[in-house]
Amino acid sequence: MPLRAAASALALLLAPPAAAQQAAAPPAASQPEATHDRAAAARRAEAPTFMAVAAHPEAAAVGRDVLAAGGTAADAAVAMQMVLGLVEPQSSGLGGGLFILYRDAETGRIVTYDGRETAPMAADESYWLGEDGAPIGWWDAVMTGRSVGVPGAVAGVARLHADFGDRGWSGLLAPAIALAETGFPVSPRLAASVEKAAERGLRDAPDAGRYFFPDGAPLAAGDSLRNQAYADTLRLLARQGPEAFYQGAIARGIVDAANAPGGKLAGMLTMEDLAGYEAKVRPPVCIDYRDWEVCGMGPPSSGGLTVGQILGMLEGHDLSALGDGPEAWHLFAEASKLAYADRGLYMADADQVEMPTEGLLDKAYLAERAKLIDQAAAMAKAEPGVPPGAGAQAPDTDPERPGTTHFVAVDAAGNMVSATSSIETGFGSRRMTGGFLLNNELTDFSRAPVKDGLAVANRVGPGKRPRSSMAPTMVLKDGAPVLLIGSPGGSRIIEYVAAALVRILDFGMDPAEAVAAGHVVSRGGPVELEEGTEAERLADALRALGHEVKTRDLNSGLHVIQVQEDGTLVGAADPRREGAAYGG
Ligand code: DON
Repeated sequence: MPLRAAASALALLLAPPAAAQQAAAPPAASQPEATHDRAAAARRAEAPTFMAVAAHPEAAAVGRDVLAAGGTAADAAVAMQMVLGLVEPQSSGLGGGLFILYRDAETGRIVTYDGRETAPMAADESYWLGEDGAPIGWWDAVMTGRSVGVPGAVAGVARLHADFGDRGWSGLLAPAIALAETGFPVSPRLAASVEKAAERGLRDAPDAGRYFFPDGAPLAAGDSLRNQAYADTLRLLARQGPEAFYQGAIARGIVDAANAPGGKLAGMLTMEDLAGYEAKVRPPVCIDYRDWEVCGMGPPSSGGLTVGQILGMLEGHDLSALGDGPEAWHLFAEASKLAYADRGLYMADADQVEMPTEGLLDKAYLAERAKLIDQAAAMAKAEPGVPPGAGAQAPDTDPERPGTTHFVAVDAAGNMVSATSSIETGFGSRRMTGGFLLNNELTDFSRAPVKDGLAVANRVGPGKRPRSSMAPTMVLKDGAPVLLIGSPGGSRIIEYVAAALVRILDFGMDPAEAVAAGHVVSRGGPVELEEGTEAERLADALRALGHEVKTRDLNSGLHVIQVQEDGTLVGAADPRREGAAYGG
């Protein structure tokens, strides 16, 4: 089995102590299920010492093996990201970017790593404007080399590893190299994604077309897939270090693929853009919520601030007394609407635009905003507020779409990682080099730089990072970590995470129950209820309160680790994806 090949390669390189070897025994729980059974709880595992949860069992298993061998959560994150880029290439990888929250057990400090993509230095406000001076369409933008930002994932995990890794960098790449060379079974989700993307530019993409449609036919579930180019890229990174990604042959491949002809606007990425990339270490954004402290990713992500705003506005309501019914979800929808209005107006790359980062989580401001919520009626439209420190801007209302992954790990020493990683939409820009897909993350910028005469905070700028919704999150109680969580889902990420927090913290749900529960999403438009789930029961009551309600497929990928009072770790993987929770 490829998994075993990868595991033995890892075992050789990491030489774990005997006791840890025992802990690495295959988990009893949380093997992937053959059928997607919504009634069943999410894939769930309990373990006393360490845990890894990811969107693919191979990645979770490699994370588990690193932890069992005595590696830190940072080591596990490196190994898991490298495997995810291979087995779940539609969602994340070397050609994308990520945000990481890391908690160092020794100091109790939470650090965040910003490995978000950057725009080329030659980019300006007209980046997404066509010949007629108007912004080109979202899909047209995806299908140009201009959508490709300088990938930050490698620099992000490398910086995390430099700070908190214990095992050698090259050994952490070994499992992914082994899997890429031996071959791994194409998962049902990957096969379905390939088929869906076939006529959306994937089949016709030069390298990606050959890889995902060998002999012209789409990959099928269970096919054994090898990726020698990916193995070669990783070997180079293993030998020369992560810096090799940003110069020489790998960087040249990225620049050439991004600038290759195709699409309405020409790519403008340069070798200097790659060489100049830097993953940034930033403080987390945290808010007190009842007995807890909820910490997340700050700008350029809107994730931590928007989740924090929603919770901050809900704090005045006793949700646990209201229970899991229409009254509580009405309040949630209204708080969300207000938070998304602020997100659209203010949130962007704070290194490049004035942003009222602290003001947005100011308790007095949020209490004022919460007064706009009527318990008996939905507001027609939520307008942004004026938090302390706010300037005049125009809102960015661009939509965002699927293709991201979230993974979490806790090591034996209690270090923790919560990371969301993305190439933006499924299969990113479709451009491929070195065995990995390049992101289309620059479509997360507002394509219009100005609206109604006011500058949009999230407009394109040289070297700027597009606003994200990724929300890797950590929850603490009395200073001790109790929960790691995050999800893919575009701008719905914020809702998936905030709702799961309400379910776990306020309703006292088990993490597996919470991630499997039907979604309720409200971003300023209609309230969306997840089709075919118990969330649909809320429809009539929410309509009676004045909400427009729609039911639809809502595809989260919530991955969670909860630390229980006795120290037991509970891992849960979203049943909508094909992930696993493995511990020891
Ligand atoms: O950074 C962001 O917010 C988006 N590019 C993430 C895209 C995403 O989550 C797609 N998910 N399924």
